[in-house]
Amino acid sequence: MQTYLAGRDMITTQEWTLDELNTVFSVAEDLKRKRAMGVPHPYLRDKVLAMLFFFSSTRTRVSFEAGMAQLGGHAEFIDSRTTQIKHGDTGKEIGEIIGRYCDGIAIRQTDWGLGNKYIRGVAEHSRTPVLNMQCDHFHPFQALADMLTIFERFRGDVRGKVLNVSYAYAKSYIKPISAPQSLMLLATRFGMNVRLTRPPEFELMPEYMDQARENAYKSGGSLEVLDDFDAGFEGADVVYPKSWGPLLTTTDDEEAAKISEKYKDWIADERRMALTRDGMYMHCLPADRNIEVTDAVIDGPQSAVYDEAENRLHVQKAVMALTMR
Ligand code: CP
Repeated sequence: MQTYLAGRDMITTQEWTLDELNTVFSVAEDLKRKRAMGVPHPYLRDKVLAMLFFFSSTRTRVSFEAGMAQLGGHAEFIDSRTTQIKHGDTGKEIGEIIGRYCDGIAIRQTDWGLGNKYIRGVAEHSRTPVLNMQCDHFHPFQALADMLTIFERFRGDVRGKVLNVSYAYAKSYIKPISAPQSLMLLATRFGMNVRLTRPPEFELMPEYMDQARENAYKSGGSLEVLDDFDAGFEGADVVYPKSWGPLLTTTDDEEAAKISEKYKDWIADERRMALTRDGMYMHCLPADRNIEVTDAVIDGPQSAVYDEAENRLHVQKAVMALTMR
């Protein structure tokens, strides 16, 4: 267990050692237990987290804000529509200034080609920890919550379990690739057999594919790439079919929509769930119901989506308590 993580940024889990990540999970379990038992845990009394949102959110905003209150501190909601953060305030200024006002800076900036660079720019100039609430490359707190949910399901024994991280069709908007990318990177650290199932136009970033392969090699797990939606479900212990944009193929919204239309039948349904090994259905939400996943699956007995969403709160509190003290 690591006992000194004060001041650390969380931009990608890849930059944290296994021991440090296990510390996060251990603290998250402790905080989850304390909340269940009604035990106060104000480890961040009088501390302030600035939450900068360049893109909207439901779960991320509510869970970070609730988490800071439960830790005895306060979270400030700073929205790009009602402040200057999108026109004029540079990453350096945000890091320097908000880093002096607050004890942590959490940022959601998902613009393709921009988000990760911006967050790293703020981190370079901030004296307080920077927490990535989702960028164009990573969604680390989602992956931590996903992994905690998987640990809980298998009582920690995840080695060799098959996790299918899969594309699914959706049409509401072009979703970032950060959630599947982060989960693939994290699950391969823990010896899971990870399948990435996606049509040819929906590749993830090559450097993170390489990292995931190396993770799998070191952990004794595996990484396999499939392009057959049904095959991804076969014998899987966990399935995570969700939509993302064909961002490495095109950044044009109309062309992306046209490509996506070819895969309308990539929907998680009961027939596909029956191919799994009583697999757990996961999704970070929001999902396009009856397009990306049927109601019968997302509301069915194999679905873990609410436990998964709850775990956002616990892992985020763990990282905040460890880094912002
Ligand atoms: N899963 C997730 O990040 O949800 P929000 O976009 O609502 O925060």
